[in-house]
Amino acid sequence: MNSMTTLLLIFSIFTLPSFLTSTKAEYVYNICPNTTTFTPNSIFQSNVNHLLSTLSSNANRSTGFYNDTVQTTNNAVYGLFLCRGDVGTDVCETCVADATTEAPKLCPTEKEAVIWYDECMLRYSYESFFSTSAENPGVFLMNAQNVTEQQTRFNQVLAASMNEVATEAANDAYKFATKQTKFSDQITLYSLGQCTQDLSAAVCNRCLAVAIAQLPSCCSGKQGGRVLFPSCNVRYEIYPFYVQSATAPKPTPTEAIIIIPTLCNNFVHTGRSRLSPYIIIVGSILAFIAVTVVLGYCFARRRAVRNNAPSRDDTKTLESLQFDLGTIETATNKFSDNNKLGEGGFGVVFKGTLANEQEIAVKRLSKSSKQGVQEFKNEVALVAKLQHRNLVRLLGFCLEGEETILVYEYVPNQSLDYFLFESKKRERLDWSRRCMIIEGITRGIVYLHEDSRLRVIHRDLKASNILLDENMNPKISDFGMARMFGVNDQTQGNTKRIVGTYGYMAPEYAMEGLYSIKSDVFSFGVLLLEIITGRNNFLGFHLTNGAPTLIGNAWKLWNEGKVLELMDPLLKGSCSPNEFLRYVHIGLLCVQEDANNRPAMSSVVLMLKSETVSLSKPERPAFFTGRCIDHHDQVAVSAHNCSVNGLTISNVVAR
Ligand SMILES: *[C@@H]1O[C@H](CO)[C@@H](O)[C@H](O)[C@H]1NC(C)=O
Ligand SMILES: *[C@@H]1O[C@H](CO)[C@@H](O)[C@H](O)[C@H]1NC(C)=O
Ligand SMILES: *[C@@H]1O[C@H](CO)[C@@H](O)[C@H](O)[C@H]1NC(C)=O
Ligand SMILES: *[C@@H]1O[C@H](CO)[C@@H](O)[C@H](O)[C@H]1NC(C)=O
Repeated sequence: MNSMTTLLLIFSIFTLPSFLTSTKAEYVYNICPNTTTFTPNSIFQSNVNHLLSTLSSNANRSTGFYNDTVQTTNNAVYGLFLCRGDVGTDVCETCVADATTEAPKLCPTEKEAVIWYDECMLRYSYESFFSTSAENPGVFLMNAQNVTEQQTRFNQVLAASMNEVATEAANDAYKFATKQTKFSDQITLYSLGQCTQDLSAAVCNRCLAVAIAQLPSCCSGKQGGRVLFPSCNVRYEIYPFYVQSATAPKPTPTEAIIIIPTLCNNFVHTGRSRLSPYIIIVGSILAFIAVTVVLGYCFARRRAVRNNAPSRDDTKTLESLQFDLGTIETATNKFSDNNKLGEGGFGVVFKGTLANEQEIAVKRLSKSSKQGVQEFKNEVALVAKLQHRNLVRLLGFCLEGEETILVYEYVPNQSLDYFLFESKKRERLDWSRRCMIIEGITRGIVYLHEDSRLRVIHRDLKASNILLDENMNPKISDFGMARMFGVNDQTQGNTKRIVGTYGYMAPEYAMEGLYSIKSDVFSFGVLLLEIITGRNNFLGFHLTNGAPTLIGNAWKLWNEGKVLELMDPLLKGSCSPNEFLRYVHIGLLCVQEDANNRPAMSSVVLMLKSETVSLSKPERPAFFTGRCIDHHDQVAVSAHNCSVNGLTISNVVAR
């Protein structure tokens, strides 16, 4: 059965974004399954009408969001509206008024409805859905214009930028964020993410992760794309489509949009555990976003330190750690662009040279620490005490005026991703070099987890956080950031901030914000597999081929006894098949779905070193390229990849 035949394409032409015209909201799509309906003139219908009018009269709220329940005996209807975070209350009111007026026409007898406009969405149901995330049905839209230059880099920039938007939106009070990223002199990428405001940070984060994971399949190679779910949505374009504060919106090019609705009521899964659908959700995240990574800085529990006055000893250490701004400005030539080394999730990194010729890396944080000054200093002092040959050493900090700066030892070579994901550079990494790198990373993590005085969970292990020194020895960077950067939300002690890099994120962390040393083990497993295969999930991924993620693929080949197919071709001369097998085996043990089954890093050291240690059989890993398939609905369609992936999944889930 060719699913293409069921593809429904709707073309529509948008000339100007509606915030310019502003009189009428721009309708996008609606979905109201006719599987559950009410009878006309029933109590349910009057409840729906009541709900719609309440929602409409609350559309002047500055939050741009309102949820309500109308409850009568045996009949309840739950509903909400959400306006795009950048629109003003007048636009929001207009949009919600339109949506609530249209709803009875669009969905005359259906008990559930989601209606999307450019500026708002309206949703209601006979079942309560507040505080939970719905990632289907979904609507994909793509801008028909192709990206014409540097597609690969475009995808990378897009993934990174979406990652940041997701994180920011999840942690935003109104669950909304936009970001503007310069791609080239001519092209700026605009991205947006938003969740309904009833979701917690963790739940919002997950919804956005799923949405972002759909972008490559809906909109790969396109200049713009959107994924609309009931609980969240994401969008990117290369023109400003949202109202940018302070600046007037520019006129925009004509845009052709294709709408591909997917009605995926079930995720394909053959697993028995109740978690399976989630696993598959996360699987699709891995499939696409793996590249960029941003794992999470959840929030370190506050340390007792916070309340204790520092001892005299600590005060002394602190003094020696403090740099003044003048010194740093001199060292970096006033943060000159020439000295810029890179940009990370927390800010820009510059190279500097101190008066004594010592080279340093200066991380200029884009946001100040959310905690008190003293607490920040105490955390810096603790992190500075973590010293190991496989960790980038923190030398000190500077806190002056608006500036929050961390000073690190300078590590001359680039980060591991720079070598790993380009075949020309990867040639420099033969098998023994890669083994040394893996061993070094392992030792660094063991130190963080077990040997240092503090137990430190990294939470953002990824190839770009592994720096290489002049001898190509690996040094882990960015550890302890969560501690120093501080938790916030004293008022809501349980609010979790999740900052993550989806491809490396353990499922329990991605889904529930739970982190432990075993979530680091998971990220390490992904990293190990990347190092020995030389493959970057994101770039090597072709959805139309149904090619699964690196982990999914490794697991599949493992079960088929064909693991050697995974070997980086550049290693053919230098790596023995048995050794390669052992490394894949260890990698698979680290990415097992159940965190308890994953080995401790100290065991990994032993496994890597000794060929005689017998390794247990790996259980199913957490991530697959599972995707949803279409369903019984009036517009039942499947995106072209759904069935392909459905197939993949059932093959993959070997037991
Ligand atoms: C919003 O509109 C309602 C009536 O539609 C009015 O009673 C209420 O005062 C308005 N609230 C604000 C903040 O303007
Ligand atoms: C709105 O949603 C919250 C959950 O986020 C829920 O606790 C509350 O009861 C809802 N309000 C109404 C009026 O249904
Ligand atoms: C975009 O590229 C695809 C193939 O890569 C091509 O079929 C299509 O016509 C292109 N669209 C435009 C608007 O250039
Ligand atoms: C629901 O919609 C589908 C597709 O439009 C249609 O075939 C089916 O008869 C409808 N079912 C009901 C109960 O109206």
